[in-house]
Amino acid sequence: MPLIRLDRFISERGEFTRSRIKELAAKGQIRVNGAVVKKSDTKIDPDCDEVEVQGSRLSAERHRYILLNKPAGYVSSTEEHDGPSVMELVPPEMRTKNMFPAGRLDKDSLGALMLTDDGELAHRMLSPRKHIPKIYIVKLAHPFQSKYVDLFSEGITLSDGYQCLPAKVSSVESSETLAFIELSEGKYHQVKRMFAAVENHVEVLMRVSVGGLVLPEKLSFGESMELLHKDVENLFKPPDFNAFCREFSGVFSAILINI
Ligand code: URA
Repeated sequence: MPLIRLDRFISERGEFTRSRIKELAAKGQIRVNGAVVKKSDTKIDPDCDEVEVQGSRLSAERHRYILLNKPAGYVSSTEEHDGPSVMELVPPEMRTKNMFPAGRLDKDSLGALMLTDDGELAHRMLSPRKHIPKIYIVKLAHPFQSKYVDLFSEGITLSDGYQCLPAKVSSVESSETLAFIELSEGKYHQVKRMFAAVENHVEVLMRVSVGGLVLPEKLSFGESMELLHKDVENLFKPPDFNAFCREFSGVFSAILINI
């Protein structure tokens, strides 16, 4: 294993920021192989060096968190059922044995999909009680109607009688058929079925954020990037929907218009 900086090793494993690690090191609260190390940029071997922070030993293993910009045609599971698995898109050096998609996007859906080997985080993230909101941009077959805002906020009833939780929708200025929708639940084909319930039809669906994790503009379809611990924590800090739509409508509508 190549040597890495001590502050990187510690920050990748949890709760400490690089500036906090610098402080702790200066105070003599970090040890490598039993010896106090006062400089947080010291290089260590993550495979054999033993690192302690404030008396607690850190594990050499760390969880991996990948954000994939899912293209159409791939299934959100570790196995190939009805098409190639999204796992095929993750470069081998980023993949780990127990990695799986933390969440689902339909085979024809696009956008933000997190993959991880951290079962506990995935459970926290997907728990219906957490209500982590997810924002999608959709291309509709028919123009967006302003009455959708109230209908969706009152809770749409799907064709099978399921009463959805209140959801937020907003039109996109540059196109009458593009809209953002924010949901805090994830039933089967939910966005598509919600628009079907108001006699519209979703032609393209792209997830653009999960909690406070926003799909970066630079990540093309099929590309993945490794997330840092602080990015993962952003999952639990969702953005304000209206501010999000204002800030990102240009970026994401430009992507959808070209599909
Ligand atoms: N809602 C859908 O209809 N499809 C998805 O892939 C995600 C949400």
